[in-house]
Amino acid sequence: MKRKNSLLIVGLALGFIAFSCNQKIQSTLPVADSVAAKNKVWVTPDTSTIPHDAFGEMVRYGRDLLLNTSYYIGPDGTKGHYLGNKMNCTNCHLDAGTRAFGFNFFSTHARYPQYRGRENKVLDLAQRINNCVERPHNGTPLPLDSKEIVAMICYMKWLSGNVPVGQHVKGDEMPELEYPDRAADPQQGAVLFKKYCVECHGANGEGKMRPDSVCYLFPPLWGPFAYQKGSSPSRVLKLARFIKANMPDKKTSWQKPLLTDEQCIDIASFVNSDALNPRPVKKDASHPDYPNEAFKAIDYDKGPYVDTFSEHQHKYGPYKPIIQYHKDHNLPVIF
Ligand code: HEC
Ligand code: HEC
Repeated sequence: MKRKNSLLIVGLALGFIAFSCNQKIQSTLPVADSVAAKNKVWVTPDTSTIPHDAFGEMVRYGRDLLLNTSYYIGPDGTKGHYLGNKMNCTNCHLDAGTRAFGFNFFSTHARYPQYRGRENKVLDLAQRINNCVERPHNGTPLPLDSKEIVAMICYMKWLSGNVPVGQHVKGDEMPELEYPDRAADPQQGAVLFKKYCVECHGANGEGKMRPDSVCYLFPPLWGPFAYQKGSSPSRVLKLARFIKANMPDKKTSWQKPLLTDEQCIDIASFVNSDALNPRPVKKDASHPDYPNEAFKAIDYDKGPYVDTFSEHQHKYGPYKPIIQYHKDHNLPVIF
């Protein structure tokens, strides 16, 4: 009886709260719930679960390397001078590769070795890590059996521990984009850059060094210390997808992007415009990228192509006709 009464009181109180609340809150609740369910992304294990043994030691060192890459293997690194710039892996692989839609390593270890179009061969994870050392970091590859490479692989294995071999998990890819029917507009991108990016990345895309000069507070986007031409982020769509979920830092999120898809594409086309914003080029030109042209990414800006579209259109769009052409001719559509 007592229980019934208190239930009644709770019920009345809830009714009163519901009644006194804004109608809108009530009607959006179920939608919010379903959005939350739909948005459920993979969660990486907590660092407190890294084992206290020899493997765990390497996992910890690997994580530390991703967070403090320049300190260890940067131009003035304490463990070797491999990187050509002072960016840390975590500048792009956000939160040491644990952030949904932030170029994370949720499932990476479970998906290597794999075929890579750019090299037209199967690469293992050590070789793939060196790709990033050579390209975005403009550096020289680490020895494949170095403690640093093994440590980074241990960390990635620990991160992907529960992912079935060969599988993707939710949030490990980048957000989709709606492609506009027009070409990307670098001039418009420049205007947006001033508004949304310049305060941190600087008017010349130079970023801002940390006071101790070991790495960046805000990493560079172009210029001699930024990622190379031909690296993944130098592609307009790849970069636009990163911006959509992650930039401007702390003011946006993949759940609620601040910028529209069109704005992200315009900004990316400005940042990656070679005419406006030069960046380092590949050092060893003896091996052309994508020797099998069918596996070239749609937004890769250097021909030849298997289709009939120009380098300019591949870089800036409109992308829809290229995608349609690939579909019509049974060619891979790669991003
Ligand atoms: C300037 C940005 C940038 C920096 C710095 C960078 N990477 Fe990358 N990395 C990328 C992009 C972009 C990709 C492609 C991701 C995609 O296609 O979704 C990538 C892909 C990878 C992959 C393959 C992931 C997968 O699941 O297939 C690995 C492994 C990797 N990077 C390791 C590293 C390591 C280790 C470092 C530091 C030594 C590093 N990267 C630094 C941008 C960067
Ligand atoms: C409030 C400061 C801030 C603003 C504004 C901002 N960023 Fe960033 N950006 C960062 C920080 C900090 C990182 C590195 C993240 C990390 O290490 O966790 C970063 C990383 C990046 C990277 C990857 C690393 C690199 O240098 O290549 C790109 C690309 C990028 N930002 C683009 C943009 C663009 C485009 C805008 C505008 C739409 C923007 N950012 C606005 C702070 C900012």
